[in-house]
Amino acid sequence: MGVLTDRVALVTGSSRGIGAAIGKLFAEEGARVVLHGRDAEALASVQADIERVGGGAISFRADVTKFSEIEAMRSKIEERLGPVDILVANAGGSFSPPGPIEETDEAGWHASVEGNLTATFLTIKCVLPRMKQRKAGNIITISSSAGRKPHPNAPIPYSAAKAGIQILTQAVAAQVGPLGIRVNCIAPETILTERNQQRIPEAQIKTLIEMHPIRRLGTPEDVARAALFLASEQSAWITGMILDVAGGAVMVS
Ligand SMILES: NC(=O)c1ccc[n+]([C@@H]2O[C@H](COP(=O)([O-])OP(=O)(O)OC[C@H]3O[C@@H](n4cnc5c(N)ncnc54)[C@H](OP(=O)(O)O)[C@@H]3O)[C@@H](O)[C@H]2O)c1
Repeated sequence: MGVLTDRVALVTGSSRGIGAAIGKLFAEEGARVVLHGRDAEALASVQADIERVGGGAISFRADVTKFSEIEAMRSKIEERLGPVDILVANAGGSFSPPGPIEETDEAGWHASVEGNLTATFLTIKCVLPRMKQRKAGNIITISSSAGRKPHPNAPIPYSAAKAGIQILTQAVAAQVGPLGIRVNCIAPETILTERNQQRIPEAQIKTLIEMHPIRRLGTPEDVARAALFLASEQSAWITGMILDVAGGAVMVS
């Protein structure tokens, strides 16, 4: 018996990277995992990995910046598996380059805010009513160390959107705690996903490692284990928390 046996867990943005690691770990722990993304091939590959080791997963494609698409996915999940017990609103990313604010174009601003803050809002808005009806549920959002502390080289639209996710998480946690629903947020530092391994030059990785008291960068599995803790009853009395998964690079009191 795993700690999430028979729980229906929707992990948005689980066609790759951190979301895929969360989906795989939740499936290992007995959850019925709903994988989500836009890339059908990548989704099929993660689903096959889960099924190969005896786990259960289904996959849906939807754009999380569009409420109608998330709502259609929610309805199909309920038909196939029943209501969502655990939501990990993970889909997102930085959609504008770092740079001076006056050189940040409006399209980049909107893309980062829509793709992170609005997407998280829409996903929670869609899934929460059924959780409230059932007086049970667990929501995990994903911020970033970029939303925890200002850094001159961080993309400002992304940092602002992620900081918005943190207060959104806490406001919802305060609203729904009395109904038995917990809402927490994970703020990862640089995580060596497939994309980051391709994108970040070796020399920069060395510099980044030096910024971490625990002398390595994070892995998708580091974030997945933190998500498992928040999704399980091990964290039953924790809500409204921002959990830095950051190798000590972020220490906020
Ligand atoms: N990696 C890091 O160092 C790091 C650090 C701090 C925070 N984070 C946060 O952690 C989360 C996951 O990051 P990651 O590095 O694992 O990203 P990634 O490898 O780029 O994967 C992003 C995932 O989100 C999905 N996605 C993005 N926008 C979407 C949209 N509009 N509609 C539907 N799906 C969408 C992608 O789907 P498709 O590819 O199928 O389209 C993919 O599954 C993000 O919120 C990110 O901001 C990452």
